[in-house]
Amino acid sequence: MSTPFLAVEDIFKTYFLRGKRIDVLRGVSVTIEKGELVSLVGASGSGKSTFLHVLGTLDAPAAGRMTFEGRSVFDMNDAEVAEFRNRTIGFVFQSHFLLPEFTAVENVAMPALIMRKDRKEALKRARGLLERVGLSHRAEHKPGELSGGESQRVALARALILEPALLLADEPTGNLDPATGEGIHTLLREVNRDLGVTAVVVTHNEALARSLPRRLRLLDGQVIASEDVAAQA
Ligand SMILES: Nc1ncnc2c1ncn2[C@@H]1O[C@H](COP(=O)(O)OP(=O)(O)O)[C@@H](O)[C@H]1O
Ligand SMILES: [Mg+2]
Repeated sequence: MSTPFLAVEDIFKTYFLRGKRIDVLRGVSVTIEKGELVSLVGASGSGKSTFLHVLGTLDAPAAGRMTFEGRSVFDMNDAEVAEFRNRTIGFVFQSHFLLPEFTAVENVAMPALIMRKDRKEALKRARGLLERVGLSHRAEHKPGELSGGESQRVALARALILEPALLLADEPTGNLDPATGEGIHTLLREVNRDLGVTAVVVTHNEALARSLPRRLRLLDGQVIASEDVAAQA
């Protein structure tokens, strides 16, 4: 059997809040292959963000295993995990978290600049990514001069600047009107197809989820269904 791209097994996560125990993830197991585009649906509070944060190594589970291309992620030390995350994973959240004092192209380039990559090269790549998300004409705009949908497209471009193998998006359309949200999902499909980036997209919008090739559903702390739906162009 070949090594899976990403495999999580028996992930458990419990929160304790004012003496009350919340078992959010109760043995989540799933395998995601390279190049997949997966939605993760489930009711509000079902643990979608918690699970995505575990996948993204932003949060450690109480128990469970995760391997990325055969490498055991939770056995890495802190420095190794940070390096793995920077090198491998791009994040898009519900809020875009763009830096208000920088232009769109500077925001997109920021992760590369923080990693001390060549500035000229980083800005050039950032412009290319802005073009990909259809925002060449907004490159010099600051976040305050962008619409919600444009800001989220900038955030998507920024998530791609370090060429992540895995893109994790947590309700990226949650703050957008339906048509703009659909535009983001179209972009996610294009980016998945053209750049080969594997992506997991949390959404509670079932219609948007249905537009992605594979759906995972969280219920009662477990992934209860993994439906293969026909990919749409
Ligand atoms: N830091 C935390 N402390 C305590 N409980 C939390 C914390 N984060 C999330 N929870 C609880 O865990 C459950 C799952 O949360 P979350 O993963 O954010 O769900 P979703 O993203 O599906 O809406 C919810 O009941 C939430 O209240
Ligand atoms: Mg959430």
